[in-house]
Amino acid sequence: MFCRQNHESRAVSENPPGCTKNLFVMKILAIETSCDETALAIIESEGVLPDLRFRIHADKVLSQIDIHKEYGGVFPMLAKREHARTLVPLLIQTLKDAGMHKKTSRHVVEHPLRPEFQVILEREPELFGQFLNELPSIDVPDIDAIAVTQGPGLEPALWVGINFAKALSLIWKKPIIPVNHMEGHFLAALLNTEDDVVKLAPIKFPALGLLVSGGHTELVLMNDWGKYELIGETKDDAVGEAFDKVARVLGLPYPGGPEISRLGETGTPGQYTLPRPMLHSGDYNFSFAGLKTAVLYLAKKLGALSATQKADIAREFEEACVEVLVKKTLRAIDQFGAKTVILGGGVSANKRLRNTLTEEIAKLHDVACFLPTHELATDNALMIGIAAQVNHQGDFIKLEDLKARGNWHLTS
Ligand code: KG4
Ligand code: ZN
Repeated sequence: MFCRQNHESRAVSENPPGCTKNLFVMKILAIETSCDETALAIIESEGVLPDLRFRIHADKVLSQIDIHKEYGGVFPMLAKREHARTLVPLLIQTLKDAGMHKKTSRHVVEHPLRPEFQVILEREPELFGQFLNELPSIDVPDIDAIAVTQGPGLEPALWVGINFAKALSLIWKKPIIPVNHMEGHFLAALLNTEDDVVKLAPIKFPALGLLVSGGHTELVLMNDWGKYELIGETKDDAVGEAFDKVARVLGLPYPGGPEISRLGETGTPGQYTLPRPMLHSGDYNFSFAGLKTAVLYLAKKLGALSATQKADIAREFEEACVEVLVKKTLRAIDQFGAKTVILGGGVSANKRLRNTLTEEIAKLHDVACFLPTHELATDNALMIGIAAQVNHQGDFIKLEDLKARGNWHLTS
């Protein structure tokens, strides 16, 4: 049973039917297709903020890395095609994991909503075919709503998840909650698992988020649950993108972040000097395109690179990125009086960034630092389901208003 989940507890008499004493329960299927991971999760939340608890019924991530590796980066149309090809089989697996996959006892003739599904999925014929083959022959699962990443991300990839969510919404008669992918990354670091129950860590506000991924590099202030303020962002490449591009220069495969990190560990510090872009810009913006170009020029100047030279460059590049990110974060903590620092996004898997940030924040008085686990650092649907439940005010989006928002800022 779905209960509206507001951020204040309500008297028992105000609870909609099906909710027990001040206990708000909501089960969500979450869908994530913003980049090169197709991910689905089914989670159930209980309680009210800040004491939300989550039970994870299923959590599946299908990475397309092997497909994009060949091309040295993510190709939006290829990502879209893969999402479309894998969503239905992944949904079936997800429902099975959650114990919610039941073949229907109804006699399945042609589904009356077939024309509607055809319109919604007209750009994904393979998905449409699989949808019609599978969905009418299974029971409606015991969920209250569908959460889907609406942006930011690669628009062709986002659309597949969105259209899939719309078709599911129609066939199951479930409402949709649109989710900002970056909010998912922001909240992922706050999840603690204890005895199979995931809890949201209690935090003090303002909380400062350093969000670092393949598409974003942002400093975001959270003044209360769901209240975000962008205080700085990259003016050109995202830091993850710079890792990926520098990896290509060094002849390393996609995704470059983990490769550069691994190689950098064996490099000698101080062999080369790369710039620390915008370190003293006086604001909280970043720039990584120049740093990537500096690596390109250095590599050209050196000619054929030895393994040692590559490792030394990787080390210096990683140190340059980490220094700028951490120093600017420290300045923002000071200026905005942040009590909590949260690291999020794929680059938060970077060991040097994690260690440096943790060490520096440990020197400060009364500032807590939260890092996501490695599984939750990169894209997943669990964080999308959590963001839907944390931020959901009780209203659902109309299907016609649900659109991919490639550049959606967390604050807009
Ligand atoms: O958040 P994410 O999975 O996808 C986007 O929303 O972009 O982030 C992927 C990015 C890639 O650029 C990848 O190279 C980077 O995260 N990344 C890393 C590491 N692991 C992944 N960057 C640096 N060090 C890592 N260990
Ligand atoms: Zn991401």
